[in-house]
Amino acid sequence: MNSVIIGLGGALPKKCVLNCELPKSLDTSDEWIAQRTGIRQRYIACEGETTSSLAVEASKKAMSMAGASSDDIDLIIVATATGDYTFPATATIVQRELGVKNAMAFDVSAVCSGFIYAMDAADSRLKLSKSKCALVIGAETFSRLVDWTDRSTCVLFGDGAGAVVLRSEDSTKGIQSSLIYSDGSGVEHLKTSGGVSTTKTIGSVLMNGKEVFRAAIEKFNESLQMLLSLNCMTIDDVDLLVPHQANSRIIEKLIVSSGIDRAKVLITIERHANTSAASIPLAMSELGAGIFTKKNVVLLSMGAGFTWGAMLLRF
Ligand code: ACO
Repeated sequence: MNSVIIGLGGALPKKCVLNCELPKSLDTSDEWIAQRTGIRQRYIACEGETTSSLAVEASKKAMSMAGASSDDIDLIIVATATGDYTFPATATIVQRELGVKNAMAFDVSAVCSGFIYAMDAADSRLKLSKSKCALVIGAETFSRLVDWTDRSTCVLFGDGAGAVVLRSEDSTKGIQSSLIYSDGSGVEHLKTSGGVSTTKTIGSVLMNGKEVFRAAIEKFNESLQMLLSLNCMTIDDVDLLVPHQANSRIIEKLIVSSGIDRAKVLITIERHANTSAASIPLAMSELGAGIFTKKNVVLLSMGAGFTWGAMLLRF
């Protein structure tokens, strides 16, 4: 049995903030942001929009494409670092809003790698026949976690959500393999300035941008090569590469070092900015049903911890 994606959907907040609007309150420029990161705009949650509301919107679209009802879903995993509350898990709020009765629901905290971690966890349960149909979601409201006076971090992030419905099927399609890793020696390079058990606050994003940049390039390359080798594939066998959207310069370096045809790389950072755990499923959702025409799809992620990983999907 394999875990097969049968539907996907995305959601963005209503408000779009262009780079050129930021210099009103910050010492920055459209030119600096676009040149150093590739970002031109981001979506920012307004009052009433939360991580769970974006997750629910994305999930409804994914379930509609899959033809799945709330009765079909027996597992909900939300990858997020910006949940609605410290507890309960945002996944349980999504469960309530979708009217899902017979399911287990929990959150995964692996920041920008969260979606691949969540997919791996769902895949394990489906393969063990402990669940049959999972809703796997990446959803974030990083705009509420950044310090809007810190130009080195706040310009990088945006809000959004992406969701997929994964069903256990007797098929050669679906998740072929996943490699996920972490290295806690990277904790200090990307973290928040506080938390429940340390400062009793949520803190805000602190980042050693240069070290994160270097590590992202290294881990993207390393995990891509391992995934290809594990599956006896070359880069030419990849039909679509969906890297985490952190910085277009990181993605450019990946294109050059891997030798992949640029047209096969999904890049949404200019419109979405970095939406952390949402970035990969949100990008995939933009293809809609078009994703089913791609045979071999590779997902690549890297985030705080450090955490990183690669996943091969077959459609
Ligand atoms: N506007 C204008 N100037 C800025 C801004 C800004 N928003 N931010 C920083 N600068 C200035 C700095 O103050 C510095 O000025 P100085 O030379 O006078 O001191 C100058 O620009 C260069 O700063 P650097 O930090 O050296 O800029 P760099 O080219 O390294 O780019 C960046 C910074 C974009 C953060 C880059 O390091 C990066 O993308 N790193 C990866 C981090 C990332 O994407 N993190 C997201 C979360 S983790 C993840 O998703 C993997």
